[in-house]
Amino acid sequence: PPILVPATVSDYRREAQRRLPTFLFDYLDGAAGEEVSLQRNEADFRAIQLEQRVLRDVSAIDTGVDLFGTHLDMPVVLAPIGMGGMMARRAEVLAKRAADAAGIDMCLSTVGICSVEEVSAVSGRPIWFQLYMLRDRGVVQELLDRAWASGVRTLTFTVDLPVVGARYRDVRNGMAGGTSALGRFRAGLGSYLMHPRWLWDVGIRGAPHSFGNLAAYVPGAASPNQFKAWVDKQFDPSTDWNDIAWLRSVWKGHLLLKGILNAEDAVNAVDQGADGIIVSNHGGRQLDGVASGIAVLPEIAAAVSGRCTLLVDGGVRNGQDVVKALALGAQAVMVGRPWVYAVAARGEAGLKTWLSAMKNDMRTAFALTGIRTVADIDRSMIRQGL
Ligand code: FNR
Repeated sequence: PPILVPATVSDYRREAQRRLPTFLFDYLDGAAGEEVSLQRNEADFRAIQLEQRVLRDVSAIDTGVDLFGTHLDMPVVLAPIGMGGMMARRAEVLAKRAADAAGIDMCLSTVGICSVEEVSAVSGRPIWFQLYMLRDRGVVQELLDRAWASGVRTLTFTVDLPVVGARYRDVRNGMAGGTSALGRFRAGLGSYLMHPRWLWDVGIRGAPHSFGNLAAYVPGAASPNQFKAWVDKQFDPSTDWNDIAWLRSVWKGHLLLKGILNAEDAVNAVDQGADGIIVSNHGGRQLDGVASGIAVLPEIAAAVSGRCTLLVDGGVRNGQDVVKALALGAQAVMVGRPWVYAVAARGEAGLKTWLSAMKNDMRTAFALTGIRTVADIDRSMIRQGL
């Protein structure tokens, strides 16, 4: 039966599935290989138990944090999602408005649909920008200049994509090639006609669906598939630690490395001048079989011992998860699929509602673990074993 008022991420996910063409929902929802790491991301959070405490005067709760020079009403940032802007009409702009309303930041992907200029034009807080290293360093330099000119001061450099993971749902849907343009069109057409509301509202009225940040550099490209082909060729697998030194020298704002799962890599990142690390397995979309971010967070926190800011992502689905992540050593979390499900299901209003629910969950978790502020969170809030 239809959901009157979506309450949890799985409700938004169900609605998003109904709303989106199959190939888009699968692209969003899926991950690499047999999706073992994807399942682990959620399961690992679910398995962590919080310690309930009582009678501690929790009448004044504040979930706010200061992160990279700005105040967030809760320690949550919207993760960069490639092609996110096709999941609802100009979805990255909608997400920016919802993030502003919730008092949190959002990070725009290099391969977002809306450009850094378009999203930054929404007044309010500056966005973060996510960078993929491209072979053409001139283009990278230009992207950084455009981001800076748009007010971006926090750059997230994603280091876990020297090659693209095998996403078998995309293979089945012909998104990964292996089929003719005509075959893709016919497959897509069936799916479009099954989802007329998306077709009209997003497919037609939401156009153009170019990669806004890259449109200027991709000669003659019209379709997302042409962009994808260009980007796949531009991803630079030769990227190494020397590039971090280069980035550090050209980017004057905060620099975060996203996609670290190893303590030695984390220490290297700090030694190379990273201000922050996002402990992440890319939502399970890169190497299937790796650990979840939350599982390796404690050892990474121990290794960097406060020398940089730590975020974690992958499987964060509610406010309790945020508390768990902070108790295990993070200063904030990123959420990926949940924000896109919410905006795909119910637009800007849907995402606003979900973010309010997150904040409310957090407040409830604070009250029932007996804490008042983020500064009160520590490891003793996690139960060890059963
Ligand atoms: C991503 N992710 C991602 N990361 C990144 O640095 N640049 C990108 O362009 C993308 N694109 C992207 C597309 C889609 C459809 C998904 C689901 C994910 C990874 C993302 O930023 C984040 O790390 C994960 O989504 C976090 O896991 P959850 O919250 O989705 O479980």
